[in-house]
Amino acid sequence: MCGIVGYIGPNEAAPFLIEGLTKLEYRGYDSAGIAVFDGNRINVEKSVGRLGNLEKKVEGKSPQGHIGIGHTRWATHGRPSDVNSHPHTDCSGKFVVVHNGIIENYLHLKEQLIAKGHVFTSETDTEVVAHLVEDYYDGDLESTVKKVLNVIEGSYALVFMSEYEPDKIICTKQDNPLVIGLGEGENFIASDIPAIISRTRKTYILSDGEMAIVTKDSVWVMNRQGVPVTKKVFEVHWDAEAAEKGGYEHFMIKEIYEQPKAVRETMSARLAKDDSAVILDELKWNKHDLAAIKKIFIVACGTAYHAGVVGKYYIEKLARIPVEVDIASEFRYRSPLVDENTLTIVVSQSGETSDTLAALKEAKRLGARTLAVTNVVGSSIAREADQVIYTWAGPEIAVASTKAYTTQLVTMFLLAAYMAGIKETVAPERIKELIQGLRNVPSQIHELLEDVEPIKTFAQKYGFNEDVFFIGRSLDYAVALEGSLKLKEISYIHAEAYAAGELKHGTLALIIEGVPVIALATQNDVYEKTLSNIKEVKARDAVVIGVALKGDTQIDKYVDHTIFIPHTDKILAPILAVIPLQLLSYYAAVTRGCDVDKPRNLAKSVTVE
Ligand code: AGP
Repeated sequence: MCGIVGYIGPNEAAPFLIEGLTKLEYRGYDSAGIAVFDGNRINVEKSVGRLGNLEKKVEGKSPQGHIGIGHTRWATHGRPSDVNSHPHTDCSGKFVVVHNGIIENYLHLKEQLIAKGHVFTSETDTEVVAHLVEDYYDGDLESTVKKVLNVIEGSYALVFMSEYEPDKIICTKQDNPLVIGLGEGENFIASDIPAIISRTRKTYILSDGEMAIVTKDSVWVMNRQGVPVTKKVFEVHWDAEAAEKGGYEHFMIKEIYEQPKAVRETMSARLAKDDSAVILDELKWNKHDLAAIKKIFIVACGTAYHAGVVGKYYIEKLARIPVEVDIASEFRYRSPLVDENTLTIVVSQSGETSDTLAALKEAKRLGARTLAVTNVVGSSIAREADQVIYTWAGPEIAVASTKAYTTQLVTMFLLAAYMAGIKETVAPERIKELIQGLRNVPSQIHELLEDVEPIKTFAQKYGFNEDVFFIGRSLDYAVALEGSLKLKEISYIHAEAYAAGELKHGTLALIIEGVPVIALATQNDVYEKTLSNIKEVKARDAVVIGVALKGDTQIDKYVDHTIFIPHTDKILAPILAVIPLQLLSYYAAVTRGCDVDKPRNLAKSVTVE
């Protein structure tokens, strides 16, 4: 998730580009850059790090010109650096591109272009697009861009500029946002409304597959086939802060609604087209590598640790390798039995959590092979680990982690299925079945987010209870852990999660009349056992909210309320079952008037011991 801007008009472009990028920095802050045509040539200025570095770099010598594009980066391919910063140009420097999204087939296209003599300067997927424009250019940028769009695969918002046609900017989008701000004798382009709201409130919101030719006096929009599209003007009434949240009240709920896309982006380039296998090019493991791994440790903190608990289940179940899950602050001081036959996987959204980083260093010191699962390219943990798998959730601003967690679960599944594929510990048809189930998950999350009213009602009804329990067995217990942490950290309700079978060994003493119990029952192999645990708490007059799979005709008889999630394989159920728990926590916090995005006593990235 990067931020893109563009300007064409009578005024200097650079001031708007910088101002617009400032408003989009919440979308990515690894590097920034602008490209402006000065009447003769396109001048590109870019710099690694926060936008401030670029501002310092162009201070007093801002690129002159009335047409320009800009970008603030959230790295996915290629660590944060000057060369990997956007805008990217072709070999001649006469074509320039900025991009938000992922070009999934970039490696294949890059090899073809290099074979034709193109010289690449960066590690990014985006630079391929600039060279494709150079390769296809036929004197008409519009038809050239159409050819380029026919060969690239993935998600994108792309903006093109050329020295040969300096009277226009061309932009297009597929699965990533792009808006055009309509001015008087000038026009603006941006990933999101905050960038243009101070200049105009009249916008065109581009739809998937649409392309726009933007000049200072006109905006032509057409669909993929080149057929003109009459766009309705979207008048923006939000204030700047609301705009940053895309009209949502908090970043947390915005990020909850971003999960279908985050999950899709994290999986799509890593699944074989025929669903036969998981492809993790970043690992390139073989039978020999896996034979050497006698034991796996998954080490993390907080929500990332909870993703590790699910990962243990996935890897042991599918790849048949023993896994131990450890809290990082414990792992690093308990002289864990780690050696050269151990794989240590650390999980961290920020990639900067100091306990997790220290645990990683400790595992390396003890000779382990190390793998990081993180959301931030170029973060300390990513740089320290031997290998990295990135979750592609985009920047997560709210302290309470939501979309990072579901993308971590997807990554844990991909890793387990990848190892199972190499070790042949799971039948090919079962792998295929699971991959096809996974492909449905983004739309199933979407379905879940379409009707939140019942959950809002439960939160308003039970949101003032000071004690809440979450119970479940097997993978449901792992999700219960995450559900209780979410409720605790943003609503300050004392919530605890228990393995449902463990209640009768003590905690049941706390179950009294009216205590809310969230009971997850999505695992068919322990379903009856879970029902009997639900009966145990009902017998003590708890109020039970069940979370079950659609098509479950029994659960209603045993609980006070049921939240149904779309039917899926029990292995994939955690990715769906956590969504209502995230929503329950969010609406409970809102009901209690808590500062949802910045809960007391907490920080987004804990860089102290
Ligand atoms: C989760 O909502 C919390 N923000 C916290 O528990 C977090 O998961 C933990 O601090 C680990 O952070 P990381 O994933 O960035 O390493």
